[in-house]
Amino acid sequence: MGGLAFIKHVLDHGDNLPIIVITNEGDEKQAVQAMKLGVYDYLFKDDIDPLLLKKTIYRALADHRNRKEKERLQEELASYTGQLEKMVEERTREIEYLNSYKELILDNLNEYIRVVDPSNLVTQYECGKILAEFGDNVRKRCYFFWKLDKECEPCTAKESIENGKVMSTEVIAGDRVYALSAIPLKNRDDTFSAIEVVRDITHHRRIEEELRHKRRLAAMGEMSARIAHEIRNPLNKICLSHEILKESLNLKGGDKKTIEIMGRGIETLRTLATDLLDYGRSEKLTKETIDIREILNNVISEFDYKIAKSGVKIVKRFPKKDQVYLNADAPKIRQVFTNVVKNAVESMPEGGILRVSAKEKEGFLVTVIADSGVGIPKENIERIFEPFFTSKIGGTGLGMAIVKHFIDMHDGEIKIESEEGRGTIVTITLPQ
Ligand SMILES: Nc1ncnc2c1ncn2[C@@H]1O[C@H](COP(=O)(O)OP(=O)(O)O)[C@@H](O)[C@H]1O
Ligand SMILES: [Mg+2]
Repeated sequence: MGGLAFIKHVLDHGDNLPIIVITNEGDEKQAVQAMKLGVYDYLFKDDIDPLLLKKTIYRALADHRNRKEKERLQEELASYTGQLEKMVEERTREIEYLNSYKELILDNLNEYIRVVDPSNLVTQYECGKILAEFGDNVRKRCYFFWKLDKECEPCTAKESIENGKVMSTEVIAGDRVYALSAIPLKNRDDTFSAIEVVRDITHHRRIEEELRHKRRLAAMGEMSARIAHEIRNPLNKICLSHEILKESLNLKGGDKKTIEIMGRGIETLRTLATDLLDYGRSEKLTKETIDIREILNNVISEFDYKIAKSGVKIVKRFPKKDQVYLNADAPKIRQVFTNVVKNAVESMPEGGILRVSAKEKEGFLVTVIADSGVGIPKENIERIFEPFFTSKIGGTGLGMAIVKHFIDMHDGEIKIESEEGRGTIVTITLPQ
């Protein structure tokens, strides 16, 4: 092996130890080539003295150690850098996840949250499910959200910024009611804004209103039943006395008319007393299996005379017998349909068509009573369940209140569709 080949071999396999070549004068060319290959230094044989050799070896070893140390440090640094990069990557992912999770939570809140500045502008931030319905409000006037064209009076956001306190109010916009809280917020640049938390409380208000209404109705029902009870006994006595007098006096002409008017008055009072008693009835349901066809046929036959007199045509549509059963309180259900059919017949004094149908639908029995009568003006539809609401001379206004009360007791539903001059459709849905 020649000198250069040997050097190459040592360099490739020699653990990077520094090599000092000792050469003859005149062989510089080879020495330079050896340096190019990577030897540390070269000395001329003739120049060598122990001190120079020692110095060169020390220097070579020191350099070697330094190089090794540098390499080790570089490796360590690279490994730290790798670890650090990994940690940063993990933290970034974590932060991204937390941010998107936070956004997901905020975007799915039932509350609508936004930040409003003192000049009524919605700043960059807003969130909440409501946004899907209302659209983006950023950089718009806060009151646009309520479909208002000027600032609310007083402005809750401004109040909270001025007082440094949480201020709350209710905003009515269209047919909806919102609860609004404004929380003062000191921004990073020391200016102030308000965080507004808005919640749609229409549903709560409706439930509260329904509850109040129910309580009022219950109190009225109780009172009605008491009054009816007190009236009934003397009224029966009056009725009996009236019958006796009518028979025994055998009146004629004007006197006969007077006693007949008395009789009609007594009858009206008796109907009122019965209706009041029905309305006030809140005893528990006694359920049994009933055939709705039987009930509807009986109810219709009660009005046979009136139906024939006013020329009303009846169209019935009932399904197969086994589909019309209902587990319900028979007398109350009969009362419900009596009152509804009575109104339908009374709405067609000049004749018309009364359609009665029943069908089963997913565990419910749906009964439809439709007439082609006078119909109900729009403004009255909401009111027909109110006790004592009547448009009839001599009406008690209790029929539909009783209907609603009994249907509610059965966890059922009633829907009224009506058009003035065209007729009314009453749909009653009861759980089977
Ligand atoms: N089928 C109907 N067609 C037209 N109006 C109706 C009908 N059903 C109910 N109404 C309206 O609702 C009101 C209340 O009905 P109801 O409670 O039974 O009391 P009443 O029959 O004694 O007036 C009626 O006076 C009438 O104005
Ligand atoms: Mg009625």
